[in-house]
Amino acid sequence: MEILRTVSEMQAWSDTIHRLGNKICLVPTMGYFHAGHLSLMEKGKDLCSNLVVSLFVNPAQFGENEDLDSYPSDIERDMNLAKEKEVSVVFLPDKKEIYRERFQTYVELTRLPLHLCGLSRPSHFRGVATIVTKLFNIVKPDFAVFGSKDFQQARIIRRMVADLNYNIEIVECPIVREENGLAMSSRNKYLSPEQLNSALSLSKSLEKIEQMLSEGETKASAIKQEIEDYIKSFPFTKIDYISLCDPVTLDEIESIKTSQPLLAAMAVYVGSTRLIDNRVINSAQ
Ligand code: PAJ
Repeated sequence: MEILRTVSEMQAWSDTIHRLGNKICLVPTMGYFHAGHLSLMEKGKDLCSNLVVSLFVNPAQFGENEDLDSYPSDIERDMNLAKEKEVSVVFLPDKKEIYRERFQTYVELTRLPLHLCGLSRPSHFRGVATIVTKLFNIVKPDFAVFGSKDFQQARIIRRMVADLNYNIEIVECPIVREENGLAMSSRNKYLSPEQLNSALSLSKSLEKIEQMLSEGETKASAIKQEIEDYIKSFPFTKIDYISLCDPVTLDEIESIKTSQPLLAAMAVYVGSTRLIDNRVINSAQ
């Protein structure tokens, strides 16, 4: 496994692979790997043998009062895990390599960020779209793998790839969870044992929503009210949003039809840690 730190080295590696007629898969990450990240790498390796994992904690996607400076990191452990997954290259640039002096070009979508996480994190998806565009131009992948844990992010990347005519196949992997249902996240590290219990309110709420829908509830406002009360019954929690929306446009749905594909998504602070989770419901009907 090679570790490449500069844009020019990474681009040269990719050009060589393509010149040989071979394909490249990219898994973009911010590191501190857990089983969710590793599942993306496994998927990437199935897609093609030249697997690049990028590890870059992207300042442009963090708001002013967010956790950029405390974002968990253990590079040595990550490198060992990547090696075990037979990653070909880890692209590990520093901030100066990615955001050169006088950097001023950003990629921004006009509508999809005006929903869900974009409402409380106004510049977040501009930062994500910009870094992913840069990674696409640096790594030049044929496939890129993302997790459905960040549902809105995956929707935004797919839209961006279509709008900007990237010839890259976006592959999505399901949410990897702990045995108790908690969606794996690098940020779970911030939680105390008591807070970890409150963090279960998200996955349990998604189950409750599915249950209410299967019992015939059709009013989103009634579901949201019950879920709000339920989450509030857990200590340390503060709700950012609970959404029942269209999985393609992310527009809120009030009156739910039985056959309608629906995304249930939420963000909840547990202490000062912001957690997200989601589930697509009715998709097969
Ligand atoms: P990060 O949070 O490190 O996540 C990297 C990838 O892992 C994302 O595609 C995310 O959806 C996926 N992932 C995280 N937790 C997961 C889980 N429990 N199950 C399945 N997949 C999971 O997302 C980012 O980094 C950044 O925004 C990035 C795309 C790298 C741009 O900076």
